[in-house]
Amino acid sequence: MRLSINIDHIATLRNARGGDEPDPLMAAKIVERAGADGIVCHLREDRRHIHDQDVKLLRDTITTKLDLEMAATSEIINIALRVKPDLVTLVPEKRRELTTEGGLDVLYLKKSLQKVIDEFHDRGIPVSLFIDPVQEQIKAAKEINTDMIELHTGEYADARSSSSRRKFLKQLAAMAKFGRDMGLGVNAGHGLNYDNIKPIVAIQEIEEVSIGHAIIAHAVIVGLERAVREMVSLVKKG
Ligand code: PXP
Repeated sequence: MRLSINIDHIATLRNARGGDEPDPLMAAKIVERAGADGIVCHLREDRRHIHDQDVKLLRDTITTKLDLEMAATSEIINIALRVKPDLVTLVPEKRRELTTEGGLDVLYLKKSLQKVIDEFHDRGIPVSLFIDPVQEQIKAAKEINTDMIELHTGEYADARSSSSRRKFLKQLAAMAKFGRDMGLGVNAGHGLNYDNIKPIVAIQEIEEVSIGHAIIAHAVIVGLERAVREMVSLVKKG
């Protein structure tokens, strides 16, 4: 299974001070050096984390692959067509949400999504649709010629009891198989972390997972000691 890392949170932290640290580009290089298979970033309509320039620089710099998450709006579509990421993942986007809250309703949006997918295919850019692990959504995604689906793992990750976690895991496994049997590539993501990743890795039909929050949050904690030691040494020397 491949692992792609979402670096949006690095940009959130940078933007908190309006400067250029921490640099998402530098983060992407570290992520690649550490063995990840790809970089994911979400260019939101409100540009709350990743900026247009970040996407351009990431495109020019990274050596693995760039997965651009985006809403299917004309402004962002035009940027994506120019930048040519290795994969475009279409997600629903609400202005006030903290993170992507649910999968795309492909049944409802079929016609408009079909047009967008065709546009990307005309430029040779493969498309993934972020959807809930539901048979009807997968069928509709296949009908409009998506290359891949990314199954939303949020319900599994947020499950409060082990029985409901098992239920959502079973559903993810069944829907990953259903997607693969239909000839789709199957990715998965959202809410995955160091505690819940193992059963997902056991689902052979999932080709790639995309993880952001858990890794960046862990990085802050495991990196804090070194960061403090370096400053202590400068301060004490003085
Ligand atoms: N996949 C998609 C489509 C997402 O929108 C996100 C969140 O940006 C992720 C994966 C990663 O989720 P998390 O940050 O919870 O690991």
